[in-house]
Amino acid sequence: MTRSHIYLSRPHVSPRERELLLDAFDSNWVAPLGPHVDAFEKETAAYIGRGYGCALSSGTAAVHLGLKLLGVGEGDEVFVSTLTFAGSVNPICYLGARPVLIDSEPETWNMDPNLLETLLKESAAKGRLPKAVIPVDLYGQCCRWEEIIEICARYDVPILEDSAEAQGAEYKGRRAGRFGRVSILSFNGNKIVTSGGGGMLLTDDEKSARKVRFWATQSRDPAPYYQHSELGYNYRMSNLCAAVGRGQLEWIDRRIARRREIFSYYKNALGGIPGISFMEEPNGGDWFSNKWLTCILVDPRKFGADREAIRLALAADDIEARPIWKPMHLQPFYAKCRRATVGVSDRIFRDGLCLPSCSDMTEDDLGRIVKVIEGCRTS
Ligand SMILES: Cc1ncc(COP(=O)(O)O)c(C=O)c1O
Repeated sequence: MTRSHIYLSRPHVSPRERELLLDAFDSNWVAPLGPHVDAFEKETAAYIGRGYGCALSSGTAAVHLGLKLLGVGEGDEVFVSTLTFAGSVNPICYLGARPVLIDSEPETWNMDPNLLETLLKESAAKGRLPKAVIPVDLYGQCCRWEEIIEICARYDVPILEDSAEAQGAEYKGRRAGRFGRVSILSFNGNKIVTSGGGGMLLTDDEKSARKVRFWATQSRDPAPYYQHSELGYNYRMSNLCAAVGRGQLEWIDRRIARRREIFSYYKNALGGIPGISFMEEPNGGDWFSNKWLTCILVDPRKFGADREAIRLALAADDIEARPIWKPMHLQPFYAKCRRATVGVSDRIFRDGLCLPSCSDMTEDDLGRIVKVIEGCRTS
């Protein structure tokens, strides 16, 4: 019997996305912009509880323009979580600024508020505060927002929240994307809501939203000819992509419910095995994760095999699993950056594995994955 490939996180689309896409196509609002872009911005901002959304070509573009909005420029420092995808950090360099990398704390896997505070104190003493801080809501789990917001407010440093992976996640009843002065989302193909590629910047300030849309359309001045009095970017989302994104947004709560079921399936099946632990919501009920990806840590001494052995065994069975993001301070390009690291993200990277978490997986798929992982234990 041939077995189908199991993906880590593939798009899960429905006839509704097709219907909206055809509407965009048939109305000839193909690109650029159009009514679906306007509606997607309003619907996404309303879902999260923000004033305005600016639909862009990627989450990375949203980080870039968000930092520009916060005034980041040549020679500035920007504090950022080290355990993240490069899209959180590269835009700092696009602006000629310098990333300062901050380690995770072991419970949420997100930016450690104590390290953030120590580093801000040091920087304040030198009279060189960062221009912005970028905490990342990793794998769909919110940061310790209360602490982080309080610390940044004390030093009057604005927050850019990278909630690229966390659409629909909550902290103390507020959705991810509500916490930064500027927040961003990604609609990349592997995200719970995909537009086939895209991102959004979220803000409560109308003037900022207008500025971001202006920069994202090549900073074209209002003139009958093409006139530019500022540097611009080609970063707007097309109407076709926005139509798909709108359809996806209608499904978000069901998709998250399924991802959470998948997490519970893995937890029930593997949680009792010595050496396997999960990225969990901290106790106390303040966190609601969207469980974008189910992530495990493997202690090779207790389990009998390391995470790489598990990943390879899954790959041999045509199942895609991936190591946790390699922290930025371990990346050759960022190795020389200033940083506050204490080994937490190193360990999460060394022992961590993302398991397939597609919302359209069947119970058979899940059973097949669990069997391979259990098999590694005795092999
Ligand atoms: C944490 C994080 N930040 C930023 C991005 C960048 O988003 P995009 O791929 O849409 O540019 C991604 C992912 O794709 C991400 O996971």
